[in-house]
Amino acid sequence: MNILEDSFGRKFPYIRLSISDVCNFKCGYCLPNGYQADKNDTRKFLHLDEIKRLAKCFSELGVNKIRITGGEPTVRKDFFDIIKVLKFDSGIQNVSITTNGYKLDKKAEQLVNSGLSGINISIDSLDKEIFKNITGHDRLPEILNGIENLQSIGFENIKINAVLLNGINSSIEDFNTWARFIEKNKVDFRYIELMRTGDNLDYFKKYHISSKIFKEYLVENKWIYQTYGKDAGPSLNYINPKYKGKFGIIAPYSKDFCKSCNRLRITSRGDLRLCLFGNTGINLRHLLQKDNQLEELKDLIMKQMQFKKESHYLELGDTGSTTNLSKTGG
Ligand code: 5AD
Ligand code: SF4
Repeated sequence: MNILEDSFGRKFPYIRLSISDVCNFKCGYCLPNGYQADKNDTRKFLHLDEIKRLAKCFSELGVNKIRITGGEPTVRKDFFDIIKVLKFDSGIQNVSITTNGYKLDKKAEQLVNSGLSGINISIDSLDKEIFKNITGHDRLPEILNGIENLQSIGFENIKINAVLLNGINSSIEDFNTWARFIEKNKVDFRYIELMRTGDNLDYFKKYHISSKIFKEYLVENKWIYQTYGKDAGPSLNYINPKYKGKFGIIAPYSKDFCKSCNRLRITSRGDLRLCLFGNTGINLRHLLQKDNQLEELKDLIMKQMQFKKESHYLELGDTGSTTNLSKTGG
């Protein structure tokens, strides 16, 4: 079998696929004014059949994990059809999603029954008011109920991501609140450093803070750094035997972040993105129209791998073509 590998020896068993740019939240760092359709890009989002062909192709290229992102992926009417096709008709074993948790209380059961392997939920704060201020939606209780519902039907693979925001959710008290949460809940909680995008410069200047403060907190509180094999991906994970869940840090500005890169991204309109912040990547859609284009599509993707760069240039202020993460799927 062909395995996707770049010129730096990194392998790519993992794809993040956005199925829609549309999002119903208004996170300050991403879509502060809510989702607005891009007038310069009127192409439709990938169709179910195109998604199926794409996933089959990546499966034949050695990909075993696909994460569905957005925007907010669950806003698509055929969301559950997409999950079903990926799960049962693409050859990919691990199908997971990233969601803002909208109506999670109502959707929990159907999500579990769809056969999903994992769910990542974005919760920037466990304080109802702060949550509302960041996302523009007073929906924290329904999300937390959703998590309880998932747990009560025995669903275990739950992760929570929060963007670390200076002065908003970055105090020792905030860290302790999350510690109490994962003490009782088997949930992995990770802070992501706020990334600068084309749209959020002022917000970034105001709220970006290094994850060092959280790392120091973890060390002081006897959390143990967990080492994985070399294909583990870029998150740093910490365990503590007294807690059911784990802590993690995603620090894209750290020196060696890109060394463990193990993923490629596909935008909702079928553009292959070799890096979240790269300008490189081409549209694959013309090769997603018929089943018999599979070999040609595989060839094209394999050839693109040589263009994957060693690292992003975020630290130089270069955000590539990423205006906000709702476009590239986080
Ligand atoms: N920096 C860091 N994380 C971001 N997300 C969205 N925009 C940014 C940004 N500029 C996060 C969301 C969600 C995930 C998909 O990406 O909060 O957790
Ligand atoms: Fe929506 Fe996610 Fe962007 Fe928030 S970060 S506005 S939930 S796409």
